Amino acid sequence: MSVSKALLAAVLLSASSVSAQDVYDTFTVNCNRLTTQRRDPIVSFGSPTSDHVHAVVGGTNFKADTTNEDAINSKATTCDKILDNSIYWVPQLYHINDDGRYELVTHIGSAIYYQNRACDYEEGRTSCPSIKTNFAAALPAGLRMLSGDKDLRTFNQSDITQRAINHHCVGPVDEETNSLPVAHCNIIRAQVTFPPCWDGINLDSDDHKSHMAFPAIGEFHGGVCPKSHPIAVIQLFFEFNFDTAKYTDRNFVFAQGDKTGYGFHGDFINGWVDLEKLGDAHRTCTGAQGVNAVACSLNVGADGSPGHASNQSPEVEPPNEEIGFNGPLDALPNNKIPTGDTPQAKLSSRVFPRDY
Ligand SMILES: *[C@@H]1O[C@H](CO)[C@@H](O)[C@H](O)[C@H]1NC(C)=O
Repeated sequence: MSVSKALLAAVLLSASSVSAQDVYDTFTVNCNRLTTQRRDPIVSFGSPTSDHVHAVVGGTNFKADTTNEDAINSKATTCDKILDNSIYWVPQLYHINDDGRYELVTHIGSAIYYQNRACDYEEGRTSCPSIKTNFAAALPAGLRMLSGDKDLRTFNQSDITQRAINHHCVGPVDEETNSLPVAHCNIIRAQVTFPPCWDGINLDSDDHKSHMAFPAIGEFHGGVCPKSHPIAVIQLFFEFNFDTAKYTDRNFVFAQGDKTGYGFHGDFINGWVDLEKLGDAHRTCTGAQGVNAVACSLNVGADGSPGHASNQSPEVEPPNEEIGFNGPLDALPNNKIPTGDTPQAKLSSRVFPRDY
C-alpha cells in the first residue's frame, strides 16, 4: 500500500501541486472476527439459517433478524471505531483436503476502508472535482446492501460489478486476481468493493443491490454517479483475511460452493451511531495522522483515541451446527456442492483499488 500510495501522491503532485497530505481520502475500520455461522440478516432475514456460512465482523447484535436499529444498539463491536456498530460479512473460506474433506480456514480479522471516491451526478459532468473539495456523503441511516453475486463461477471483465470483486495474495508473492489466487499465499485477502452511488430514496431493495450503483463515468473504485443513482456516498471496501500459509495447493472453496472466487461477495448493515461525525471524517481525519489527527471527528474515545479492535461474542447464540471448528467436515454446511474450476492461471492484471 505504501509504495502505490507514494506513487499516487507523486502523480498528483506533478499534476496539480496539492500536497501529499491533502490526498488522504481513506480511513479504515479494523476488526477482529465476531462470529462464523450460517445466518444472514440481509439475504435470509428472519430465517433460522442462511444458504451458506459467513465470516462476520462488527456490532455484536448479529442474529437472523438484525435491523439497522439493532446493529446501532449492539452492546459492543469487534472493530476499532467506537461510533461504528455496523456489521460486515462475507462467505467463509474452506480448504478441500486430499481426502475430500472440508477444513475451515481461519479468519484472522478484517479491514473496512471508508473511501471518498465518488461524486454526485450533475448534468454534463465528466469527471469528479478534486477530493479536496468533493466529499461523498455519509452512508444514509438505515442503509443495507450487498455487493457481488454468490452464484458467479465465471468472470466477465466488461462487468463493473464483477471487477469489484478480487483477491489479494499476501506473501510470499504479492498480487491481486479476480479469481482466487493461483500462487501459494500466506494470507488470502478476499476483497469486495461496494457501489458508491445511492438512488437517494431506498435503503434496501429486493435484490439488496438495485438501490445502489457503481459510477457511470470512472471505475468501480470511484467516479461520477449515474443519473439514476445521483448521490455519492462513502465507498466501502472490505478486506477479509484468511490464514492460508499451511496450504501448498490451491484447493479452496467459499462456503456457497464457489471454487473460483468470482462468487465472493459482501454484506453491510449501517450501524454508525453518529452519521454527522462519519460524514465529517474525510474532512477532519486527514493527513498522515489520519484518525489520530487532533480534530478527527471519529476521535471520540474516553482517552481521545479512536478505540481498538477487540474480541467479542455475538449477543445471540449461533445456530447449533458443526461448521468446521472441531475438524474437517465430510460436506460443506447446508450440503453446498463445490462448483466451478479451481483457478490455474493468472486471469487478470494487478489492481489495487484502494490506492487509486
Ligand atoms: C459482460 O458484461 C457486459 C456488461 O455488463 C454485458 O453487456 C455482457 O452481456 C456480458 N457478457 C456476458 C457473456 O455475459
